This record gives sequence, C-alpha cells and structure tokens, in this order.
Amino acid sequence: MAARILLLPGDGIGPEVTGEARRVLEHVADRHGLALALEEGAIGGASIDACGEPLADAVLERARKSRAVLLGAVGGPRWDELPVDRRPEKGLLRIRKELGLFANLRPASVFPALASASTLRPEVVDGIDLLVVRELTGGLYFGEPRGTALVEGRREARNTMVYDETEIARITRVAFDAARRRRSHVTHVHKANVLEVSQLWMQVVDEVAGDYPDVELAHQLVDSCAMLLVRDPRRFDVMVTGNLFGDILSDEAAMITGSLGMLPSASLGEGGVGLYEPVHGSAPDIAGQDRANPLAAILSVAMLLEHSLDAAAAAAEVRDAVTAVLGAGHRTGDLLLEGEERPTLGCRAMGDRVLEALS
Ligand code: IPM
Ligand code: MG
Repeated sequence: MAARILLLPGDGIGPEVTGEARRVLEHVADRHGLALALEEGAIGGASIDACGEPLADAVLERARKSRAVLLGAVGGPRWDELPVDRRPEKGLLRIRKELGLFANLRPASVFPALASASTLRPEVVDGIDLLVVRELTGGLYFGEPRGTALVEGRREARNTMVYDETEIARITRVAFDAARRRRSHVTHVHKANVLEVSQLWMQVVDEVAGDYPDVELAHQLVDSCAMLLVRDPRRFDVMVTGNLFGDILSDEAAMITGSLGMLPSASLGEGGVGLYEPVHGSAPDIAGQDRANPLAAILSVAMLLEHSLDAAAAAAEVRDAVTAVLGAGHRTGDLLLEGEERPTLGCRAMGDRVLEALS
C-alpha cells in the first residue's frame, strides 16, 4: 500500500521550496521503489485566505491519516495584524499539538563547501555537528493561563511556562537515544538559577540520565549556552531543551553553520505521523521571486525518508546530492557572504542541480 504524504506548502517561500522538495522526493521514491501517494493541503495564511482559519479540521484529519507531513513555512505581513490565536502560526502550533509531535529534531552541521559562508571564522565553524532536541508541544507556547486583560485600567498580558515530569522525561529520552547514535554527549539547556520549571527539568534529566551511564551529560544555562554556541560550537553534540529556548537556540545554531536556508527539521511523537519542515521561515521579502534556497526543504525530505519511510539509503543519497551540488560551487543568494561576487541560482535551478546529482 502506498504511503500517504501530505504536503502543506503554506506561505511566502513555502510553496517554492516544497515544490523542489516534492520533485526530489518523487525522484528518489521512484528509484528506490517506494510507493507514495502525495497530496496537498493548505495551512497558515493560505488557509486563512481559503477558509478563514489557519488549519481546517479536514486538513488535520488528512494529516492524521498520513505517514508523514512535509511542510513549507507559515506567516507573512498580510496576516500580522491578526490576534495570536488566529494568525498563520497558530496552524503550525495546532498541527504539532494535535499530532502529539513533542520531539523536534534540528540537526545543524557544516557542509565543508559552506564553511566560509558563516560569519564566524572557518576554524571555529569547521566540524560543527550538533543536534538540537527541542520540546515542541509544551512550555510557554501552550501553557495556561494565557491572554490579555485590562487590569485597573492598564493592559496586561500573560503566558505561562509549565512542564510536568512526563513531558520532560520523554523528550530527554529522545535526546539520550539520539546521543547514543552520535558522540554520546547531551547538554541540557536551562535557566535553573531563576525558573522553577528549569529546576524540575534538572531533576528529571538527571533521573533519566541514570538509565544512560554510557552518555555524558552537562547542564548549561541558556544565556551562557547562547554565548558558547558562537565561541566554541564544536563542543556540542546533542542539546535538549524546552520549547522557547529551543526555538531561539536552533536559529542561532543554524546561522553559525552558514545559512538558515540549509537547516531541516523533523517533529516526531508517539503516534505514527512525522512532520518535516525547513527551520527557516516564510521569508516574505523574497517570496515568489525564485530566489529562495530549497536545500533545507530538500534535506527535510532526507529526514522524512529516514524517519518515516525507513529508507536510510535513499536519505543518504539526497544528502550526498546536496553535498555534491554545493561542492561543485552552486549557491543560492543566501549562501553568499556580504560582498562576495559569484553567480547565484534560483530556487528552481537549485532543485534542478540536486535532481541531476541524483541521477
Ligand atoms: C519555528 C518557528 C515557529 C516556532 C513559529 C513560526 C511559530 O519559529 O518552527 O522555529 O516558534 O516554533
Ligand atoms: Mg523558530
């Protein structure tokens, strides 16, 4: 039976990059005899425009029945005036929550050909290979109570950071299991000098670590972690942290490798569906101009092949093709340094190069 894959291109550059990712997925599926049934649906601003809400129940149901979801990006200035609970981002948060996708894996490594694209010195960047394991369905993003109110004539707004021990333990296990397949080191990122929530994380992470005597554990305050990431990023293997810290640190980790345009992600949970999306956003400033970098979306396809289709060899082929294309000197605009003169490719042409490298 064909594995159902739901594409949710979303907004901004989402449709362009998922278009290229789709071509790559179809190509490798063909080569490896994987039977896929690809479908498309709306999310984010595109969905608001079509039906008034950022994720329709019917699309969510189709996602539940799929093996995997490949998402582009959501959001844009057109919908910026909407209240938070009706914005495009709400569609993304809702699909993550409803599908129980609590584990967000964001690998950041340096493609050798791109070491000079980082704003950090090549000797600092060379060899970065880290994985941010971000808790995705709890913490400040979802905590109650939340909202705005008028208190004694003054506007007040409130969000709540809350985690229970089960939520912490399960994401910690994902991080330790991943570390075993890598360099056996976990850094837990926290703010335990101020937050009770982080103190609970410390306790639970330590308890779980007891089951992994072969994996080394370090606790790191989030502010100093942000600093160490630019000073000595190679020290990190797996980082595990809550939703908000993970959001911030994964953008930082992505950028030090050269470009946010290169980083894929996988969101996994207890259910069978996996969701794959580039870490970069919708980049409305370059949307529709064929200037976006499709490589993060294409590398997200590699993660989809590996985690949802059990096709590690096909995933490796996709990664190798991306490495080869970069090695041959092909670049989209985001991969150039300030002042660097070099011809650049558009989104479609970059997709073409990857497909050529695959055949
Ligand atoms: C991300 C994004 C989202 C998040 C936004 C678009 C809601 O920044 O996936 O990192 O904050 O999780
Ligand atoms: Mg983010």
